Amino acid sequence: MALTEEIARRRTFGIISHPDAGKTTLTEKLLLYGGAIQEAGAVKSNKIKKGATSDFMEIERQRGISVATSVLAFHYKGKKINILDTPGHKDFAEDTFRTLTAVDSVIVVIDVAKGVEEQTEKLVEVCRMRNIPMLVFINKLDREGKDAFELMDEVESKLGLKVTPLTLPIGMGYNFKGIYNRWNNTAQIFTGEEKQSKTSTESYADLKAPELKDRIGENTLAQLEEELELVDGVYPHFDLEAYRAGALQPVFFGSALNNFGVQDLLDCFVDIAPPPQPKAADTVVVAPDAADFSGFVFKIHANMDPNHRDRLAFVKIVSGVFKRNTPYLHVRHNKKLKFSSPNAFFAEKKQVVDTSYPGDIIGLHDTGNFKIGDTLTEGKSLQFKGIPSFSPEHFRYINNADPMKAKQLNKGIDQLMDEGVAQLFTLHLNGRKVIGTVGALQFEVIQYRLEHEYNAKCSYENVNVHKACWVATHEEDHPEFVEFKRVKQKFLAQDKQGQLVFLADSAFSLQMTQQKYPSLDFHFSSEF
Ligand code: G4P
Repeated sequence: MALTEEIARRRTFGIISHPDAGKTTLTEKLLLYGGAIQEAGAVKSNKIKKGATSDFMEIERQRGISVATSVLAFHYKGKKINILDTPGHKDFAEDTFRTLTAVDSVIVVIDVAKGVEEQTEKLVEVCRMRNIPMLVFINKLDREGKDAFELMDEVESKLGLKVTPLTLPIGMGYNFKGIYNRWNNTAQIFTGEEKQSKTSTESYADLKAPELKDRIGENTLAQLEEELELVDGVYPHFDLEAYRAGALQPVFFGSALNNFGVQDLLDCFVDIAPPPQPKAADTVVVAPDAADFSGFVFKIHANMDPNHRDRLAFVKIVSGVFKRNTPYLHVRHNKKLKFSSPNAFFAEKKQVVDTSYPGDIIGLHDTGNFKIGDTLTEGKSLQFKGIPSFSPEHFRYINNADPMKAKQLNKGIDQLMDEGVAQLFTLHLNGRKVIGTVGALQFEVIQYRLEHEYNAKCSYENVNVHKACWVATHEEDHPEFVEFKRVKQKFLAQDKQGQLVFLADSAFSLQMTQQKYPSLDFHFSSEF
């Protein structure tokens, strides 16, 4: 198959939701349709369950599962579908943000009873900022929840989206009868067999069909007709271009657990979701059909097996064809690397592949060459943009608790930072190290992993930092910059790339500093 055909048939997307909305259940049902798994219950949830075990044991268990579920690929109606896993736990939100740089679209899952929740708001905001095309799936219609129209209003107001329903529920909760599919203009009435077989709905193209009235009742039918009229009057027509530009979000209703409305979602998804998209690099925008291979690392999994201290770097292919055993340029190191056993993912299995195409994700075995954001090319010196580090929320000094193991500790910290577990800031004044994380859980993760994977011990100490921001100047010898560096010396540090960082001790001092040095730029993510 030609490169353009391979590109045209790929759909790479992520499912985002607040924990418990049904992301895992929906993923599993999609895999069942793709024939990639045979039975429900096969996809394990990677969410962190509080309770029985201590957090870090749970994290280790979760890391094990999330290698397997990082990419779930399957074939459906001639398309190759890649689902990228996104952790729902808020302490791992940065992993999710990074994964979102590798998707071409997303499905947002919302619980019909709970409506729009906090984590959904944050993740959708990131997608909106990047104009990522989004579909919304309102789940758990088999339970009593909010009214469909009320929910769509909530999605518009809380998430700042512009929606149009492509399916509508017929009844809800105990009275949930089916859905009306506006994409192919049919009423899909459930027969109760859906859990086992995939297609046991009765389909009615004509709402006047007498059997339909018999099946759902006169009142429900009248309500459906009224609602369809309302939808036509109030919501915009579906527009493919607007959806793909991130300006219009189609909404679907259903129940993942009961397999209601999932096939309607999937069938429409394969019709409308965008194939792999061009990606901006520092000097050019790279189109997927460019002949030269290029790709970037968006995730690193390390040291799952203590006997093999290697890591798996997940690369999204942006352009061209990736081939096994071919030397590619690691742009940051300006070094050619060859990969003898690149992994591709199918359902929950890894397998060695010879060639991969744009939209695909490959796992490259790595002994410490990669960090998140690295670019691989066939020879061009370009760097893909868009994987920033965000200003962390929590800060602590990290100290060496075993002086004999300083080397191990430094190596461990270095590699964990490359993996993107947290960020390291080294103070200018005394060289002390401050770790900044998105969630408090990461401190436990780091301590546990340093001990178990690197045989090093660390301790933490409180440090009074409110916010870290990256400082940039247009002129190195500008008097304001010189004075800023002298006066704020105590609060200055450098990140792992050597960029200047200001560790403000309070919101007030940050504000005052910004006012006092107007010629300097203060950034809250590392990419500017
Ligand atoms: P997540 O990945 O988004 O965190 O959610 P997950 O799929 O694990 O689903 C969270 C809970 O919601 C699960 O129940 C799941 O069975 C249930 N669920 C998912 N879809 C539906 C649906 O359409 N209707 C109903 N009624 N429930 C649904 P649990 O009791 O937490 O877990 P489990 O013991 O069933 O695995």
